[in-house]
Amino acid sequence: MATTQTERLTVSDKSNFWRRIPGAGVVALLGLTLAGCASDAELDTLKPESGTADEIYGLVLPVFIVAGLVLVLICGAVLWLALKNRVPTYEGDDEFPEQVSHNNTLEITWTIVPAVIMVIIAVLTIVTHISINKDEAAAIEIEVDGEARMWDPTIVVVGQQWWWEYRYYLDEFDLDASMLEDPRDLPPADIVTSGQFAIPTGVEVDLVVTSRDVIHSHWIPRLNGKRDAVPGRFSPWKIEADDPGVYFGQCTEFCGLSHSRMRMQAIAMDEADFQQWIDMQMSPATFGEELQPYVASYRAGEPATVSEDASGVLRGLDTFVAQCASCHLVDGLNDLDYDGAEVVSGSAPNLTHFANNTTFAGAIFDLYNDDGTFNRDDLAAWIRNPNDVKANFANDLADGELPRGMPNRNLTERQISDVIDFLETLGPRPSDERIAATEVE
Ligand code: CUA
Repeated sequence: MATTQTERLTVSDKSNFWRRIPGAGVVALLGLTLAGCASDAELDTLKPESGTADEIYGLVLPVFIVAGLVLVLICGAVLWLALKNRVPTYEGDDEFPEQVSHNNTLEITWTIVPAVIMVIIAVLTIVTHISINKDEAAAIEIEVDGEARMWDPTIVVVGQQWWWEYRYYLDEFDLDASMLEDPRDLPPADIVTSGQFAIPTGVEVDLVVTSRDVIHSHWIPRLNGKRDAVPGRFSPWKIEADDPGVYFGQCTEFCGLSHSRMRMQAIAMDEADFQQWIDMQMSPATFGEELQPYVASYRAGEPATVSEDASGVLRGLDTFVAQCASCHLVDGLNDLDYDGAEVVSGSAPNLTHFANNTTFAGAIFDLYNDDGTFNRDDLAAWIRNPNDVKANFANDLADGELPRGMPNRNLTERQISDVIDFLETLGPRPSDERIAATEVE
């Protein structure tokens, strides 16, 4: 008796299970589709904020609609034909529906219609391509060291594992072939930032995109499409933002371990804010009174000895000089003897105004907490062992192999805390609005 019941249960469970599959499939598919929807997505190609992005959107939309219609029509027709002609149980040759072949009208139609669609898309694509690649850059007036000058807004963008560097040359600047051989040898720039970069609003900013190691791809979706960063090559690109604001981006060419954690933010500023930003970036780091004698002695080639009971900031500066300054440049501190970083790309983020940033480590962590305090916890975790919080290839290397990413310097907890004390002084501190607007998800 018990056995029969069990068998019955099993049979009915099984048939229920099979009946549920189509429904479950639809729900899963719907879930997957809807997971792609977010009203406040950082990387949203459907919310263009510049002339170029508008034009790309204007091309994407009709193509998407036509492609969608074709998908629905073809899938609908296939389903309809399959259902209409299905044979419930096969019982011999005469069970087949009428077999047909060679319909000239149909064949000509399904050759010509797609061809016409393709031609229309090709024309629209070429027109858009020509239009968005038109060079409409115009010089703007900026002030450098109190003197007005015209500047063709141009930023050299350098990708490396796994962060973006932005180099501003405010003087006349020509890219020549010799710089192509090795972007490590790029001439010194007036301003160098990492992860975040400022642009003036309402003007076209030329980007010159390259890489120091492998191929990356620069993409700020709301401002423009993607441009590959290829080692040994300068690829022209541009961006423009209509309004002040923060525009998030992401490396979009697989480039190794932390490809997904190689992000960036374009911060569009009005004229006055942009000028202020230039002034701040052009100035060397300002050190508090307490640090100045040490900095002076270090620059003179004879760093002073720092005692154990000195303040955390001073001890942090001393640790920074010993442990970090061989890779990271702080203008006003180690610029006299700085000679690039001992990593594959030969470069590490310039930390002159580190605490003026709101992100770090490839723009993946917030440098400030929600309440406006310095994010010591994430920064400590990053310094303690970078590989723990962002995969890289910087430790356990073979002889002569250079790191990709930031190595673990094996600092003590006290040294980590001291270095953070020091880094926090490399301001000026950004505004609360900036901190809120640039928050990383
Ligand atoms: Cu850099 Cu992906």
